Amino acid sequence: MKIDVKNIDVEQTQQHGLPPEVFKATEIFDKECDAVFRQGWVSLASAQQLPEVGDMLPVKIGNASLLIMRGADDTIGVFHNICRHKAAPLVDSACRKRVLVCPYHRWAYNLDGSLRAAPKYYGDSEQPMSAQDKADKGLLPVRSAVWWDTIFVNLSGDAEPFEEFIRPLDQLLEGYDSDGLRMISTTEYQSSANWKLAVDNFLDGYHVPFVHSQAVTLDSVMNQEDLFLSDNIAGLRLPTGASDKPAKTDKPLPHFRHLTEENVGTQQWFGIFPNTLLFVDPVWVQLIIVRPEAPTAASETLTIYAANPESMADEFAPQREALSAALNEVNQQDIELLDKLQFTRTAPEASQGHLVQAWDQVNVRFHQMWLQKMQAAEG
Ligand SMILES: [Fe+2]
Repeated sequence: MKIDVKNIDVEQTQQHGLPPEVFKATEIFDKECDAVFRQGWVSLASAQQLPEVGDMLPVKIGNASLLIMRGADDTIGVFHNICRHKAAPLVDSACRKRVLVCPYHRWAYNLDGSLRAAPKYYGDSEQPMSAQDKADKGLLPVRSAVWWDTIFVNLSGDAEPFEEFIRPLDQLLEGYDSDGLRMISTTEYQSSANWKLAVDNFLDGYHVPFVHSQAVTLDSVMNQEDLFLSDNIAGLRLPTGASDKPAKTDKPLPHFRHLTEENVGTQQWFGIFPNTLLFVDPVWVQLIIVRPEAPTAASETLTIYAANPESMADEFAPQREALSAALNEVNQQDIELLDKLQFTRTAPEASQGHLVQAWDQVNVRFHQMWLQKMQAAEG
């Protein structure tokens, strides 16, 4: 059965969530790749995954194959991971190079994406390629921005300026010094669920004390607040989420530098539409980037940061390891849940689910963001 996004009813969505078909239909996925993942600001990776000049990281998202590079000027650049000759893929896995050479016909590119040389471009001649012939054959650049160490891109090039897009959240997080973030670990996950179920689950505070009972008690989530920041950003806040938890060690990791008194005990987490999931604790930050690969396949990168550079001292190694293990355990539990949910949430009966006023309103907002973008693309 074909599903038409124009016929999805907003009221129905408020009560039951998006219809089951949108979590598995191929035609929906194809549409999302353009209407959501090319039109909007989407995240790809953490900048600290590329610490040195010449670091390269290939990332596929939706129907795009991209390459992140740290250039000679130390800034992050993003390009299509496609040779300008016959569109061969350039880089398969993370690496460090000064010159990027296409494996197909050895066209070579500089770190700024410009074409450096193409062997025997003029056939049987010693003449090197002219500047004029090189000029229009550089790698295709992608509009990008880095915020909270997260690399965002806008493939279409015509989304609103990134500063405008992120402003409501940037202002809310003004009291946090994101320059102090230091990557503790980064872990890749593979899920057989639709990408929207992963986002939906991250914005579901209701499940946390039940699915992750080893980490969170029911009492500690009772004062959850919903945060509706813009047409692209929603989240949740536990005003005493961090201070409610008993310290697991005598020497806890230090919190963000210059943290205000009101934020010392606060935990909050955000979904930045479509695929960026950010959790902010006083002493650590968790970034999950969800990348759709197919209607029922998504990959995730989970990056854990220390909020304060002092946390990277040797004396804190056991605490960092324990933190990373605990957060990865939680994510593994979610991945196992999502893989099973993919089957039940896409059954026809799933349309008869009942969302709850007290807990599910951020999920409802996420579903509406999706619907609005998809319907707008239909014209
Ligand atoms: Fe969870």
